[in-house]
Amino acid sequence: SANNQATGQQQTATYDSAFLKACRREPVPHTPVWFMRQAGRSLPEYRKVREGIAMLDSCMRPELVTEITLQPVRRHGVDAAIYFSDIVVPLKAIGVDLDIKPGVGPVVENPIRTRADLAQLRDLEPGDVSYVTEAMGMLVRELGSTPLIGFAGAPFTLASYLVEGGPSRNHERTKALIYGDPQLWADLLDRLADITAAFLKVQIAAGASAVQLFDSWVGALSPADYRRSVMPASAKVFRAVEGLGVPRIHFGVGTGELLGLMGEAGADVVGADWRVPMDEAARRVGPGKALQGNIDPAVLFAPREAVETKAREVLDAAAGLEGHIFNLGHGVLPTTDPDALTRLVEYVHTQTAG
Ligand code: CP3
Repeated sequence: SANNQATGQQQTATYDSAFLKACRREPVPHTPVWFMRQAGRSLPEYRKVREGIAMLDSCMRPELVTEITLQPVRRHGVDAAIYFSDIVVPLKAIGVDLDIKPGVGPVVENPIRTRADLAQLRDLEPGDVSYVTEAMGMLVRELGSTPLIGFAGAPFTLASYLVEGGPSRNHERTKALIYGDPQLWADLLDRLADITAAFLKVQIAAGASAVQLFDSWVGALSPADYRRSVMPASAKVFRAVEGLGVPRIHFGVGTGELLGLMGEAGADVVGADWRVPMDEAARRVGPGKALQGNIDPAVLFAPREAVETKAREVLDAAAGLEGHIFNLGHGVLPTTDPDALTRLVEYVHTQTAG
């Protein structure tokens, strides 16, 4: 409805934001900065509004999602909001029996290990996630010129939770499937690609200005296995949301050896963790793509001067890049002092304001 649409003036201001300019590799007034997991447990105002509400329930309440998404924007002055949700929300929405256990992560009741188990994964319809459409409409109006990033889990990372039944250090059951039944694995990933693509399209239709595909755990694979067993599905997701005027960001942890392939899969912006300096990450990704990253989230526990030295190193390494979005190399750790994040945003903005 017209009520859900941003005004033309607001859309222009959002389009001209530093964050979206950097995604498009255009000159920026300052380096844009946001933080993965900026909404969440590091903020006392988050812990307060989440009190007594289970994680997945909170994701289905549009007013609460709106409030939690806005909290880090208000507090830190970051250049983008990231929609408050979780990577398993679309799976829950199509009826997969799963929960998010506090301090553990997503836990799946009936893990997917056989062809018959694939029946748990039906297509996602926009009506399955109407709360996302509603919350995003509210957010776009509240955010003014600040872009809203939508996101989804990439097929590999979602499959890892579905196959293992929960978080896993070594992904042994996932690898047993990849190497033991490559056809079932390919069919599983292809189905997840369709679900993920449908979920991202819902978010873009609802007003997301950019989307990030989190392949958090894909760094567990070699480049050859990534190319053969993961890239076709991730590329399918990116193709489905190509040409919509919405930059596509791709990120995973420990993916130094995969950065080139992750860009090739179809991303406009490639995120790197702290193990690879930004200039080296840019070399690995190749021309024509922006880079996002990459200060170690644990550095925020050091004194202010040390944080600024590390931030300076990231900015220096990224100085020659066409497009750089400052971020952490992974999500904000729950016990991070929020003031350290606010100071880091100020530092990046003042260091790079032209
Ligand atoms: O601010 C933001 O970045 C938006 C919120 C967000 C959450 N999850 C909220 C959340 C985002 C982008 C995610 C994505 C997500 N979820 C990923 C990819 C990003 C990454 O960190 O690599 C992954 C792998 C998951 C799976 C997941 N969900 C984990 C590992 C956990 C943490 C378990 C724990 O309790 O330590 C969750 C739960 C979760 N998702 C929380 C939040 C704020 C914590 C639950 C709570 O606050 O009660």
